[in-house]
Amino acid sequence: MSISLAEPILDAGVWPRSTRARGADLAVGGLPAAELAERFGTPLYLLDEQHVRDTCRAYRRALPGVEIAYAAKAFLCRGVVAWLREEGFGLDVCSAGELELAALAGMPGERIILHGNAKSGDELRAALRLGVGRIVLDNPVEIARLAALVAPRQRQRVMVRVVPGIEAGAHHAIRTGGEDQKFGLSIARGDAEDAVLRAVAQPHLELTGLHCHLGSQIGSVRPWLAAIGTLTAFLAGLRDRHGIVLPELNLGGGHGIAYRSGEHPLDIESFATDVRRRLARQCALYELPVPRLIVEPGRAITGPAGVALYRVLVVKRTAHRVFVAVDGGMADNPRPALYGARTTVRLVGRAGAPGTRRVTVVGRYCESGDVLAADVELPEDVRPGDLLAMPAAGAYQQSMASTYNLVGRPPVVAVRDGRARVLLRREGIADLLARDVAE
Ligand code: LLP
Repeated sequence: MSISLAEPILDAGVWPRSTRARGADLAVGGLPAAELAERFGTPLYLLDEQHVRDTCRAYRRALPGVEIAYAAKAFLCRGVVAWLREEGFGLDVCSAGELELAALAGMPGERIILHGNAKSGDELRAALRLGVGRIVLDNPVEIARLAALVAPRQRQRVMVRVVPGIEAGAHHAIRTGGEDQKFGLSIARGDAEDAVLRAVAQPHLELTGLHCHLGSQIGSVRPWLAAIGTLTAFLAGLRDRHGIVLPELNLGGGHGIAYRSGEHPLDIESFATDVRRRLARQCALYELPVPRLIVEPGRAITGPAGVALYRVLVVKRTAHRVFVAVDGGMADNPRPALYGARTTVRLVGRAGAPGTRRVTVVGRYCESGDVLAADVELPEDVRPGDLLAMPAAGAYQQSMASTYNLVGRPPVVAVRDGRARVLLRREGIADLLARDVAE
């Protein structure tokens, strides 16, 4: 089924690019949501493949010569790794599980970057075995630990994760550039310099540069510009004091997206222009060679391409509000409960009454904090059996999903040009029971 250009596009910044209002329904990737819900059941996660690929291409166009490593923690499966590999992306991983999956899906080892504030010996060994391009050192202990694991006559490329003292991000739990949090080594305290010297002193390690990640869901380029100031001053200090010149600079991820109408995503073209200009200016100021840039967007690549579909099970009126309870909730999308995240909700599959009413969409899990969307407007006749769609669902929902209350996780289905392909199947009761191995 192809998409006709005559069909209206919904708020393009919030819904996947292929989304069209089709009569009373909504189509993604050329397929009606109601039909997909019928075929695959609900809750259901859709991922617009073309949108992911187009976003990758926009990044590559905006940032020529920059290495782009998708942050796997946003959402990972073999199908997505294949798209990223084809689009020339690398991958940032932070566990042996992400690493093994990336390798299984054919991501070349040299395009993989391993992170983690507490990597196990097994994770370091797996990274060496799979030939990852860079390991990002986060503490002094792992410098010697890693060096001891590298085979004789081999060298592992590494970066040092530094704390520039600049915080950014939509919620305190996802701000990682400040001094009072667990990641990285402080420039201000001298810990970063100490780690650089230790790494350089290890013959089995090749230090290629610095890494920093300021936080997540950042909407303005300003924090990165400030970080570039601190980072280049530090690079100049390393050169002046120790004669060390580092060829790479990794600015992490954190590129913000729109979850609701009127919100502004980080504009990647301005990011590219402003960051490069500031870096060139700072390097000229300190007479440093301009380091090769690496960026690690996660949410911005898969988030806007996703849609979550839920079936309404119950509508309940209380003294305070009207609750619309759906068949998913905080286990497949913990973001509202964890960060107070707000999102868009839309009735799909039938035309609702013209009037709306204010409702709170809740999940089916056994706690009152299981709220997906508080105080949103839905057609006043919203009722059991209805389908609700929530956009911008492609990042940090499935990847953070749990099996709370022993409910299996929903499937993820890729849609493109009128075709649907299951990427992750639904987790059934048999999957859940299979882990329970003692009577
Ligand atoms: N690089 C590093 C080292 C990171 O720690 C992260 C995210 C990224 C890149 C990608 O950040 P992104 O471009 O996706 O913002 N669960 C939270 C987000 C946690 C982000 C953790 N680190 C949420 O749902 O908002």
